[in-house]
Amino acid sequence: MSALLVIGGLTRRFGGLVAVRDVAMEVEAGSVHGLIGPNGAGKTTLLNLISGHIPSSSGRIGFAGGDITRWSVDRRARAGIRRTFQNLKLFRDMTVLENVMVGMHGETHCEIWRALLRTRTQQAEEAAIAERAREALDFVGLLSLADTRADDLPYGSQRLVEIARATVARPKLLLLDEPAAGLNGVESRRLVDLIRAIRSGGTTILLVEHHMDVVMPSCDRITVLNYGQRLANGTPAEIRAHPEVIKAYLGGGLKRRETRTPKQKAELLHAAS
Ligand SMILES: Nc1ncnc2c1ncn2[C@@H]1O[C@H](COP(=O)(O)OP(=O)(O)O)[C@@H](O)[C@H]1O
Ligand SMILES: [Mg+2]
Repeated sequence: MSALLVIGGLTRRFGGLVAVRDVAMEVEAGSVHGLIGPNGAGKTTLLNLISGHIPSSSGRIGFAGGDITRWSVDRRARAGIRRTFQNLKLFRDMTVLENVMVGMHGETHCEIWRALLRTRTQQAEEAAIAERAREALDFVGLLSLADTRADDLPYGSQRLVEIARATVARPKLLLLDEPAAGLNGVESRRLVDLIRAIRSGGTTILLVEHHMDVVMPSCDRITVLNYGQRLANGTPAEIRAHPEVIKAYLGGGLKRRETRTPKQKAELLHAAS
């Protein structure tokens, strides 16, 4: 076992608020690692720090043996860190296929003048990228919708397009931010299969998710955040039985719990039972 991602002492402040506080965490290569916690716990902020979308206030992020703490989003993406967003970020007027092709950005070797001249090399690369994008769409079960405008797809399918875009370049690490949000039961079960298939393809996954019926069967290990701090770390069985986790989710006194929907509360109850 070796860690692909090693986070140490990671802190992010927004003014007076400490969204992520002194978090340490390791994600094993080849694993699916869950990141759970109440709304406002700092899960999305932690993903943003790992993907490079925001800089850390202090701490260190190690990836594949190197220190990437100060790397740009693009450099991290080229190194194999890709993500999806809690709020979908598709190009609505582009087709499904074009959206997925965007995920290959940075993998073409043509210089700009060549692209402008549309040389044979460039056309061949574009065809190769389209082919890879079709494979990625086939993988998530959306090949037949390749030419549909992204905005015309139902919500659940749009989430899958984002996953196809994030996996088309075969990343080393995939960060998923609440991929089951808005999915129905059938779609959630398919998502579990998809997550396992992505892992089988050699991609390590860090999964932020509220739906415990997705988290528990997918994850090898789970880290729990609460008020920006690491509350627990362990196997799904250990997390389910962890007194502090049960208390944070189910006990009184945590004001951020009030931001949870009844559905989320029911899921947390289900997870802890
Ligand atoms: N860009 C930002 N500016 C100010 N505060 C932020 C920003 N992003 C997140 N926060 C705050 O940081 C805390 C953690 O948010 P977030 O990481 O989105 O939590 P989670 O994803 O676990 O629900 C919240 O209190 C949130 O309001
Ligand atoms: Mg979030």
